[in-house]
Amino acid sequence: MKALVLAGGAGTRLRPITHTSAKQLVPLANRPIIAYGLTAIAESGITEVGIIVSEANSDIEIAVGDGSKYGLQVTYIVQDSPRGLAHAVLIARDFLADDPFVMYLGDNIVVGGISSFVEEFNAGDMTALVLLTKVENPQQFGVAEFGADGGLVRLVEKPKNPPSDMALVGVYLFDPKIHDAVRAIAPSARGELEITDAIQWLIDQGDSVQPHTLTTPWIDTGKLQDLLEANRIILESMTANVAGDVDDASRIVGTVIIEPGATVIDSSIRGPVVIGTGTHVEHSYIGPFSSIADGCRIVDSELEHSVLLEGAQILGVSRITDSLIGRGAVVQKSDEQPKALRMHISDDSDVRIP
Ligand code: TTP
Repeated sequence: MKALVLAGGAGTRLRPITHTSAKQLVPLANRPIIAYGLTAIAESGITEVGIIVSEANSDIEIAVGDGSKYGLQVTYIVQDSPRGLAHAVLIARDFLADDPFVMYLGDNIVVGGISSFVEEFNAGDMTALVLLTKVENPQQFGVAEFGADGGLVRLVEKPKNPPSDMALVGVYLFDPKIHDAVRAIAPSARGELEITDAIQWLIDQGDSVQPHTLTTPWIDTGKLQDLLEANRIILESMTANVAGDVDDASRIVGTVIIEPGATVIDSSIRGPVVIGTGTHVEHSYIGPFSSIADGCRIVDSELEHSVLLEGAQILGVSRITDSLIGRGAVVQKSDEQPKALRMHISDDSDVRIP
């Protein structure tokens, strides 16, 4: 079995961070989002992975490399523009050959991994296995409709009147028949080749498409609130480890990971929190569900439920919450006159001032 990881896409809902970085590389608990998927794939016993990227030599390629650090062999497949999830399967035909495969959306996280689904697919005689989870807003997802016998009869993409509250999760298992399906369908109204249409084609052909309802959390990190939620869930599952320098005046409570080379002076850290190497925290409070990357500076500030990327600085600011702060960004108090906000922010930024 192979895996196809989708890490192209436009990431419009996560701007501005996606102007300068692929969303699959945004760190959660200081690991890139895509690392969670690749680890889950490796744990399931798969070694050959194709990654769909939007350009050659992309940041994803630089970060993931040949895949050996995950125990994988990675092949990159360039998709000229985001023409849909089924289009990604279409262009991966040569890589996938006639092997069954797992298709994994590179911005999704399935807590608990995918090994059990791989086993279920391999043990059953089926053309596709799709994962479903109960959602509160089915209008925003691909949604399943079930027949009287409980079997899957229809999949609808972002329905106005959802037939159920069971949404498709971004992990699918297919046998090679899916290649006929992605060639048979036409682009949808939004101009994409939809994987839901390809799966529907299989159902209509009488092929066995089996649903599996997830019991563990699944998160699509495509929007800021979901990304912060994913960060929260991952941090909750971590184990405390204080390896950096923490002075006697500081207070560390709960699950806190402080990497070697980080310094904490006269500060209060309430976990779950992870602080990266080379980061300096002084006279500050860092509250639950915060991930602070390497080389950050947090001085005379308070923050919680936030993700800071490499080299970000928070100086004299309280209190920051529910925020994603990009690489090298500086948020600081200023005593300059006139007393006013001074901003140098990128396109599509979102700043909220109380
Ligand atoms: P989406 O989140 O559905 O799309 P997107 O990344 O373009 O984001 P937005 O809607 O905010 O503009 O994509 C899910 C995953 O699949 C994500 O990792 C990107 C990837 N993808 C591709 O690789 N190729 C594609 O054609 C599409 C649509 C998505």
